[in-house]
Amino acid sequence: MIIAHTIEALEEAKKTLSGSIGFVPTMGALHQGHLSLIQQARKENDHLIVSIFVNPTQFLEGEDLDAYPRKDEADIKICELAKVDILFMPTVDVMYEEDELCIGAPVRRGYVLEGEKRPGHFDGMLQIVMKLLNLSAATRAYFGKKDAQQLALITQMVKNYFMDVTIVPCEIIRDEVGLALSSRNVYLQGDEKERALCLSRSLKRATKMVMTGELDVETIKTEMLEVLGEADRVEYVAIVDREFKALEKIKIGNTIILVAAWVGKPRLIDNLWI
Ligand code: PAJ
Repeated sequence: MIIAHTIEALEEAKKTLSGSIGFVPTMGALHQGHLSLIQQARKENDHLIVSIFVNPTQFLEGEDLDAYPRKDEADIKICELAKVDILFMPTVDVMYEEDELCIGAPVRRGYVLEGEKRPGHFDGMLQIVMKLLNLSAATRAYFGKKDAQQLALITQMVKNYFMDVTIVPCEIIRDEVGLALSSRNVYLQGDEKERALCLSRSLKRATKMVMTGELDVETIKTEMLEVLGEADRVEYVAIVDREFKALEKIKIGNTIILVAAWVGKPRLIDNLWI
């Protein structure tokens, strides 16, 4: 595995590759969720590039940029074992200059839910993903459904800017009790881990309701909020179509149910695709 810290080193390393390139961008502190993307990319491509970069422009003022978990040594081992060809670990200076051209998230899809609660987050996320996709020259790039809105916006950016890369959506990976894996789960302490399960439980409750024929969004949301009572603060429960437009009735095959809630220190998100 070649570890590249600069653009020059990355370009040099890429010269050793021929054939299709799978790419998995991450912010590190790798867990089984990241690993599932890496393994899928490994299977479906001749070569594999992974990036680890905690992108400052997607963190808002007062968010956990400085405290974001960093585990470079363990991450490098994980990537080596997963047979990554190139691990790109740039510094902020390598990725950004002053007074940059910026990318704006689309005004509707980019400014509801996460985009409403974290204004500017998606602009910074799209900016870095554009850079990373260009640098990797990937054939396919892999993103988790865990960050459903992020995935939708990246897919839209690739379409709107006619970028030559296929975005591959990957399933959400959970622990044995149902908690969606996240680098921020390390912040959970004491009973918070147990209480954090209310997010996935609320989605399970919604699944059961849909399976028994309940399609009314308000009825489902009310029950979900009851389950979410164990969280410290619920930011949103939303039921939208794949375009992120609010729905009144569940449309089987075209619905995403999303929740965001604070449990202790971390703000957690989870979702379900129906
Ligand atoms: P990060 O949070 O490190 O996540 C990297 C990728 O792993 C994303 O595509 C995310 O959706 C996926 N992922 C995280 N947890 C997952 C889980 N439990 N199951 C499946 N996939 C999961 O998302 C980012 O980094 C950044 O915004 C990034 C795209 C790298 C741009 O900075």
